[in-house]
Amino acid sequence: MLTIVVLISGTGSNLRALLEAVSEPDFPARVIAVGGDREAEGFLHAEAFGIPTFMVPWEQFPSREDWAQELATQLEVWRPDLVVLSGLMRVLPAGLVDVWSPRMINTHPAYLPEFPGAHGVRDALAAGAAQTGATVHIVDAGVDTGPVLAQERVPIETDDTERTLHERIKPVERRLLIDVVRRIADGDLDLAAAASVP
Ligand code: GAR
Repeated sequence: MLTIVVLISGTGSNLRALLEAVSEPDFPARVIAVGGDREAEGFLHAEAFGIPTFMVPWEQFPSREDWAQELATQLEVWRPDLVVLSGLMRVLPAGLVDVWSPRMINTHPAYLPEFPGAHGVRDALAAGAAQTGATVHIVDAGVDTGPVLAQERVPIETDDTERTLHERIKPVERRLLIDVVRRIADGDLDLAAAASVP
């Protein structure tokens, strides 16, 4: 059984979908804890499923490195097989990524390498693109630069706002994430091999 810790910053709607998927008796993975960098709404989903939570409050640490040190300590408590960044809006320092990659994956609301960063949906709209997408990738030391595990296109409608477009991207992200997690758990997706592809 693949064990997972999910890290969030926001509403956690993708987390919720993952929790629903892994609660199916035949799903080969379990979420063992949910962590975050703030009092995120998404913690309510973890609590609803009886999953332990932990918070490493960003504001209470003098630097990114100090914050990440505490996050690393928390991850060591749980020692999951996989860490899923599901809307964690923090760039992790290379030292932490080195410890967990390639067993750390991220969802991103764009078709990487297009529109990386914190505003992937907004940036696609601002660029006047006809389509964007959703991506699940291995986290590396860059910002949304790690090896892609799954991605899919999402068309942009002429009357889309950031909210409407993001709401159409998220179900695609959820489907890709759940499929990637299932393939990792089943042994059909080898993260070390995926990470070594140039
Ligand atoms: C998701 O679209 C996720 O890909 C994105 O935040 C959203 C979280 O939604 N992450 C990033 O943009 C990271 N750069 P949720 O909290 O409703 O699951």
